[in-house]
Amino acid sequence: MVESVEEAKERIAELREEIRYHDRKYYVEDHPEIDDHEYDMLMAELKTLEEKYPEQITSDSPTQRIAPMDTARFQAVEHKTPMLSLDNTYNHGELREFHERVCRLLGVDDVEYVMELKMDGLGVALLYENRVLQRGATRGDGVMGEDITANLKTIRSIPLKLSDQTVLSNIEARGEVYMPRDGFEAMNEERLKEGEEPFANPRNAAAGTVRQKDPKVVAQRPLDISVYHLSHHPGVELKTHWECMDELRKAGFRVSENMTKVSGIREALEYIDLWENKKDELNYEIDGIVIKVNDLEQQERLGATSKHPRWAIAYKYPAVRKTTVINDIDVQVGRTGKLTPVAMLEPVQLSGTTVSRASLHNEDEIERKDVRVGDTVLVEKAGEIIPQVVKVITEKRDGSQKIFEMPRECPVCGSRAARLEEEVARRCVNAQCPAQLKERLEYWGSRDAMDIEGLGPKLLGKLVDKGAVRSIADIYRLGKIQLVSVERMADKSARNILKAIQESKEQGLARVIQGLGIKYVGKRSADILARHYGTMDRIMEADKNELEDIHEIGPKIAESIVSFLEDERNIELIERLKEAGVRMDVGVDEVLTLLEGKKFVLTGSLDGYTRDQAAQLIERYGGRVTSSISGSTDYLVVGSKPGSKLDKAKKLGITVLDEDGFRHLLDQG
Ligand code: IVH
Repeated sequence: MVESVEEAKERIAELREEIRYHDRKYYVEDHPEIDDHEYDMLMAELKTLEEKYPEQITSDSPTQRIAPMDTARFQAVEHKTPMLSLDNTYNHGELREFHERVCRLLGVDDVEYVMELKMDGLGVALLYENRVLQRGATRGDGVMGEDITANLKTIRSIPLKLSDQTVLSNIEARGEVYMPRDGFEAMNEERLKEGEEPFANPRNAAAGTVRQKDPKVVAQRPLDISVYHLSHHPGVELKTHWECMDELRKAGFRVSENMTKVSGIREALEYIDLWENKKDELNYEIDGIVIKVNDLEQQERLGATSKHPRWAIAYKYPAVRKTTVINDIDVQVGRTGKLTPVAMLEPVQLSGTTVSRASLHNEDEIERKDVRVGDTVLVEKAGEIIPQVVKVITEKRDGSQKIFEMPRECPVCGSRAARLEEEVARRCVNAQCPAQLKERLEYWGSRDAMDIEGLGPKLLGKLVDKGAVRSIADIYRLGKIQLVSVERMADKSARNILKAIQESKEQGLARVIQGLGIKYVGKRSADILARHYGTMDRIMEADKNELEDIHEIGPKIAESIVSFLEDERNIELIERLKEAGVRMDVGVDEVLTLLEGKKFVLTGSLDGYTRDQAAQLIERYGGRVTSSISGSTDYLVVGSKPGSKLDKAKKLGITVLDEDGFRHLLDQG
């Protein structure tokens, strides 16, 4: 039990130290010493203490990794010294020239280099003062970058405070933010499930994430960083780049384990050849090798041009490209009904694999590149996991090539394939389309949606193939005989699955909305819609404008909902689910009593709600809105330009909520 402020302060410091130590073991060294539960306990204790003593919260506390959303655009900041980029070389000859130039300028016969992998992400600069992270910025144009501190703080391998094992204290360190391959793939799978566009490659994913507006979103994405340069370290005597990297490692950063010291160009080339074969085994993408003069004094003597340092250069591995012929263009249909044109290629060997297909993304892309069936094209497998068509070799055209037109109907079920406003993709509007069905069923039963245990992809696949399930609603008509006949299972397992199906009927509106898999409608929007409307019928009556007026429901989501609910088949699906007894309202018992008996007064204007909307919400949750403040008022909700009510509420000691606080209160439901 903590007694005094002094004791609390001490314990807070102790906890931070301990958490930092375990963060490093876990996120940087990959050698955790305690289990997640123990870690959570430390964090919980720290949070409790900080809540009790908010004046003790510092920006480097481990609790401050996820800052609240900052709606302003990123601020432009100037780098301490310009962030130069590296000059590139593409073959051994060019690298030898670099080495000869370095030797000539330094007047030496040989030089020691540090060889490093060139991570394919985006460069950032991290500024520390008195060991505490002050600012993290993108490279920008090299002179000015964008302040993305809040987002970078969510990356666990960036220490918020430098460890005391280092002599470094006031520094600027630079590194590459990247997304590991496994995390990238998992994230893309998740995006596909949510009906969102997957990222083309880990670099795009990292770059897109780092400039997200909401640090909460960033925190959920698997970003990491590898630090490669100490650009500023006044007062600390360091002789080599290698020593700098050692010191950064001690400070708590992840520094690549794969860097090596070599002397002379021959060893440098060996390193390059070695990694050309090994790079595909790494859990992140690299687009080359960086070679750096190790001695800092030599670096200084070599200096830099306006763009590049003269003491370092990048060696870029060639992107593997080949020409082949497009035999046909196929159209595939994904879970959210998205139609993707795929080039069926005359098979070619590209970096060790046979490539016979390449995504053409969408009709705009086909038009832009003027890709026709029968064309000879250049295909490439660079960072991208899926091979890309780089360009058409138009000289090879002989008049037999055919212009491709994207079908206006779904190639699987024949329904309309519509192109939503502002979207490049065409989508099949039929939720029962067999191409979408299996995955939709799986999604319906998934933990986030209706949570039907035992109804996995294998079983669902068989049920669909046997024709036992043709729509989500058919799940609720399944019997034991059907289950046992498609998959050999014990009586008890079948009974358990049927029980889980029955129980899922009570999940409530938010999960139903989510389970329907409407494009752009994920968990958060489903919750908002459910809470706002209360029943499916009301949602079905809403038009686009009305939906857009709801806080956090943008035009894209609104349009997608309307388009989904306009389709007769989707309406029929909802009707059948209702008939089956699937609950289409919010669980009144739990949620709607959140504000039972509470009295509210509203004053000033709110950004996200009209007065009426706010009042309706309060009432839906069981609260009451009155016009004047009295001793029995529980909450005063204040918007901008509040009147005298605020003073009165303060005098009476009534809880005052700003818009965020109000939203937060509702969110608890
Ligand atoms: S050194 C003055 N080392 O590649 C120091 N850069 O154009 C310059 N990169 O902007 C950078 N891995 O974002 C360096 N091991 C590495 C690197 C690396 C990736 C990026 C960095 C830079 C770009 C070069």
